[in-house]
Amino acid sequence: MAGSEKKPSDCLIVIFGASGDLTKRKLIPALYYLWDHGQAPQNFAIVGISRTEFADDAYRDMLYDFSKDHYDPEKWKDFAQRIHYHAGDSTQRDAWPGIGERIEALSAQHRTGHNLLFYLSMAPQFFEPIITEIGAAGLVTEGRKFCSIGEDEPPWQRIVIEKPFGSDPKSAKHLNAVLAQVFDEESTYRIDHYLGKELVQNLLVLRFANSIFEPLWNRQYVDHVQITASETVGVEGRGSYYDGPAGGAMRDMVQSHLLQVLSVMAMEAPVTMDAADIRTEKIKVFKALQVPKETDVRRIAVRGQYGAGAVHGKPIIGYRQEKGVDPESQTDTFAAMEFHVDSWRWGGTPFYLRSGKAMAAKQTEIVLYFKSTPHCLFKKQAMKQKPNQIVINVQPNEGIRLRFEGKVPGLGMKIKDVVMDFDYIKQWQAEPPDGYATLLNDVMRGDQMLFKHRDEIEISWDAVQPVIDYWIENPDDELPNYAAGTWGPAASDLMMERAGRYWRNG
Ligand code: BG6
Repeated sequence: MAGSEKKPSDCLIVIFGASGDLTKRKLIPALYYLWDHGQAPQNFAIVGISRTEFADDAYRDMLYDFSKDHYDPEKWKDFAQRIHYHAGDSTQRDAWPGIGERIEALSAQHRTGHNLLFYLSMAPQFFEPIITEIGAAGLVTEGRKFCSIGEDEPPWQRIVIEKPFGSDPKSAKHLNAVLAQVFDEESTYRIDHYLGKELVQNLLVLRFANSIFEPLWNRQYVDHVQITASETVGVEGRGSYYDGPAGGAMRDMVQSHLLQVLSVMAMEAPVTMDAADIRTEKIKVFKALQVPKETDVRRIAVRGQYGAGAVHGKPIIGYRQEKGVDPESQTDTFAAMEFHVDSWRWGGTPFYLRSGKAMAAKQTEIVLYFKSTPHCLFKKQAMKQKPNQIVINVQPNEGIRLRFEGKVPGLGMKIKDVVMDFDYIKQWQAEPPDGYATLLNDVMRGDQMLFKHRDEIEISWDAVQPVIDYWIENPDDELPNYAAGTWGPAASDLMMERAGRYWRNG
């Protein structure tokens, strides 16, 4: 994000989990995009590390084949010269002399200096041993050994760590402690790719570069806020991860991505656009989140699990039939929850968050529902008068839409809701870049604005853990309770109806 004008610095990018899906699907295409758009450092190289044996060329070919659509074949040949591969088990100490030597050799070959960007793109059980081994190998020298090399720009070593960041408050705190033993907070980039999405960043601009929205952005005018991330896909072969301790919609989506979006939506204006000031404001939102009591759970939270169905005419098997999933699994593939931010600005205004897999449509959006007019002058139309809404379509159909009531042309006074439409793609004649490109560029520039501070993670777990605990202690015999291709369980609509509200679906 253009919070600062710093340029990306030369570096060697060391990816652990090099043959994994995320590397092939997201990281390499994002790095290619940056290089192709002149937004990568002048000198950079990538070394992928995992256990499978590959020669550099075979690794490059495998990456190319996996995400062909992202690459121009001629340009790729050039780009691929920067990609290397090292086979080794990075959780084991005896692999590290070899890894260290390769890092040194590639840094010299590509003239990247001593800047190292470690990227943990693998299953969470490997985070701790690898962080520990990076430390033991003596590769993190920031502020120490190499200080004297260049006083203006001392070399850096940064780590990017993927979610899941723990599976409960205790494990999240533990992981933070493990990280802190090797990396300073300023060198730790806890990634959340939702923060890299254009329309989530645009939320900061919408709120803080305009004066017309701010007076309305509070409990006095906003009745409630909905944040939805629905997906049409099921668990897509990730059954064994998703059914494990870090899986389920509440952990996988709500605790991480959606609470981050909520924090940007609800925070106060920061003093400056610097990362530290923004993160300070986000932390205040997390501190203000109500921690639910056990007795509230049934009223404020709904879990769901999909059974067999069809999405856009394509059949989908039920969650319990997925490979790697317990046939009696209690895992939530859908979660909806009412949150409250106990602050001067938001006291009493509910935030409804929901996310689900195998739902009717792919839709990520933030909607502010405004309160009704104090008195209804159009009595005959009263039933049809809809609340004003600001809809921020994060994906797809990226854009911001303002819905309000308008007069239908002609005789009489007929009212209908109309839309003022800022369509991102039409306006800018461009597709938004993938969040990973933005975020990787930020890491190489040393900008932590769109990354999570350790306090954000630790505090935000507290707001969802009572619900997760309640669900573990009280299995639900009704699961699966929604058919693939629908908008989730009926209980989620009922939760809204009880409050006189309804979800915006599609
Ligand atoms: C990931 C979750 O973080 O986000 C996945 O682990 C989910 O389960 C994905 O499918 C959704 O991302 P996006 O960008 O497609 O909305």
